Amino acid sequence: MVRDSAKSSSAASERAAGGMHRRLLVTGGAGFIGANFVHYWLRNHPDDRVTVLDALTYAGNRASLAPAEGHPNFRFVHGDIRDQNTVERLLKEDAIDTIAHFAAETHVDRSILGPDAFIETNVTGTHSLLKAARKIWLEAPRGKSAEHRFHHVSTDEVYGTLAPHEPAFRETRSYAPNSPYAASKAASDHLVRAYHHTYGLQVTTSNCSNNYGPYQFPEKLIPLMLINALQGKPLPVYGDGQQIRDWLYVEDHCRGIELVLARGVVGQTYNIGGQCEKTNLKVVQILCAVLDQLAPDSAFVPHAQLISFVTDRPGHDRRYAIDAGKARKELGYAPVETFDTGLRKTLAWYLNMSDWWEPLMDERYKAWMEQWYGVRKHGAAL
Ligand code: NAD
Ligand code: TYD
Repeated sequence: MVRDSAKSSSAASERAAGGMHRRLLVTGGAGFIGANFVHYWLRNHPDDRVTVLDALTYAGNRASLAPAEGHPNFRFVHGDIRDQNTVERLLKEDAIDTIAHFAAETHVDRSILGPDAFIETNVTGTHSLLKAARKIWLEAPRGKSAEHRFHHVSTDEVYGTLAPHEPAFRETRSYAPNSPYAASKAASDHLVRAYHHTYGLQVTTSNCSNNYGPYQFPEKLIPLMLINALQGKPLPVYGDGQQIRDWLYVEDHCRGIELVLARGVVGQTYNIGGQCEKTNLKVVQILCAVLDQLAPDSAFVPHAQLISFVTDRPGHDRRYAIDAGKARKELGYAPVETFDTGLRKTLAWYLNMSDWWEPLMDERYKAWMEQWYGVRKHGAAL
């Protein structure tokens, strides 16, 4: 059974235009993109209600939500998406009509050393959330909750890798995930699709390229390189550094999700990206050059001297690139930041916010760094 997509999408647009207030459940709202999304949402929709559900794993940080804590329409719940009872209770208690599902295990390198947590959270957790949404929104007596949306936040990594001259990923590209992380996200995308097709759950999915910006945990490329550079540590570029990613400033991703919620057609998927392909080596070189300008008194200027090629990530995808044409045409999506403006904002934020990232450099973090980087050989373009 598939619901009337056009009808429900026009209902969503009318709601947005008519000023009716959404009641959102943001899973993973203490993570990087989730926290940015919460701040973005409360700034642009201050009368909507936002409930965050987050398990506060190593990647979740309550401090990332500090700017929202005093907001009258904000609520934080410490809990796990796999706990179906808790999710059902929240859906009822807060009369949630929209789930924005960010919660996930997200670091490819960790998925290589320990894939189980990725299956648990990304596959079983998403399924648990879908079961709760189905029960409360579709099986409970129909009332206000008849209008609902389950928005699933996913990644371009589900499409696998691109050859140098292949066109960027469109929504019609077949799935070919290569890492345990990508495979677990692909499985969750399929479950979301199946709950729409089989049960009529009103879902949308967005597949986005690599994000950067404030509140990103310093295991991912940009914050890791920045913090290592500030501390005069080696900047570990994998392999030959010629792998390509398509970079997007996190607020532009949030804007894309907002548009999918307002204008997206139920049952559809939308690719969101920055049209900003760069090799990893280039990203690190630009980051070093901008840091030289923003922190001219650093003892490590020029920071590019710290670049060190290390043993590659196994199964490393060579290139990702998003074709966001569908989102542009159907939703009016366009990123606002360029890589230069977004990176400057990001670096300035980290330079000002050492109180946010310094506490993250704890024993657990050091153990991860040692486990992953300790065994990697350093040399010229390994
Ligand atoms: P993140 O790792 O920074 O944050 C994940 C959050 O989920 C954390 O707050 C963590 O505590 C929470 N979480 C983990 N397991 C949970 C569970 N079982 N129950 C409740 N909460 C749990 O991730 P991110 O980079 O913000 O990514 C958010 C989403 O966006 C993910 O679904 C990811 O696949 C997707 N995405 C990320 C990127 C990117 O570049 N970071 C790009 C495209 C898509
Ligand atoms: P990452 O931020 O982990 O995102 P993803 O793997 O999801 O794309 O990595 C971005 C790119 O940077 C990826 O090609 C791997 C590379 N990389 C390094 O070269 N060195 C590093 O220390 C890290 C963390 C990533």
